[in-house]
Amino acid sequence: MKNQLFGVPMNLGANKTGIEFGLEALWDNYPDVFDEMEVIEIERQKEDFSVQNLRYKNTILDTCERVAHTVNLAVKDGYRPITIGGDHSIAIGTIAGVAKEKNIGVIWMDAHGDMNTQESTLTGNIHGMPLALLQGLGDKDLCNCFYDGPKIKSENIVLFGVRDLDEQEREIINKSGVKVVFYDEIAQRGIDVVLDEVREYLDVDNLHISFDIDVLNPEYAPGVSLPVRGGFAPDDIFHSFKYLFKNYTITSVDIVEFNPIYDKNSKTMEFVKELTEYVKNPD
Ligand code: ARG
Ligand code: MN
Ligand code: MN
Ligand code: MN
Repeated sequence: MKNQLFGVPMNLGANKTGIEFGLEALWDNYPDVFDEMEVIEIERQKEDFSVQNLRYKNTILDTCERVAHTVNLAVKDGYRPITIGGDHSIAIGTIAGVAKEKNIGVIWMDAHGDMNTQESTLTGNIHGMPLALLQGLGDKDLCNCFYDGPKIKSENIVLFGVRDLDEQEREIINKSGVKVVFYDEIAQRGIDVVLDEVREYLDVDNLHISFDIDVLNPEYAPGVSLPVRGGFAPDDIFHSFKYLFKNYTITSVDIVEFNPIYDKNSKTMEFVKELTEYVKNPD
């Protein structure tokens, strides 16, 4: 499949500075990998700052509408969109764009669940909500991004590598029926066993990979906004990607939450480069 690379320098979903510089850093350091990237700019909208539990909702919604539109055209033209963030709120747009054309499953690789709603959130940060919104849980306007209604069925979602859930978020996840594979379980039982179980469980042909860099152990990838101790080594990730590319048609990929301000010796940046290269040219 031909690839099309997009960049979305969004940081408002994480409400933390630094993520918006990730794309520039990648571009400057690895022009050969990122040069044909099409950047979808953030256009600041008027916000209601009395709203504390959906921070920057209007700008995030506007951006995700445009991301969805662009990604959707790429899918229609037969491309595999690879979208580099930006924070994880942009997946509201990428997945809407793909899901309009194709029946997809989603593997959400993340230390976090990203399944809060405006009622359960402790931070008000929308990057903690996209996976709920995509199932039709949470703020109506955000749920109806690009087209009305839920974008993915809960039974077609696997949360992979999780190590940090908020208490109420855990209840939302349990009620939804999303399959959660905790990092501890993967470490105990071995990644191959677990990947085979995911394959048995996720009975779809088309798969979208939404990859949050913080699923890695911060030892290997410190350049994220919300590091959580423990987690994968880069080899585990490449191994998992290879497995997924072999067993599914990978329609689309997000790589999000790279924050160069917290990076050390460019470790995280190099990882993002290598993962992007792999996705562009999987063997
Ligand atoms: N659960 C926390 C929150 O809702 C953290 C979310 C982190 N999400 C992410 N995409 N890194 O604010
Ligand atoms: Mn249009
Ligand atoms: Mn995360
Ligand atoms: Mn995330």
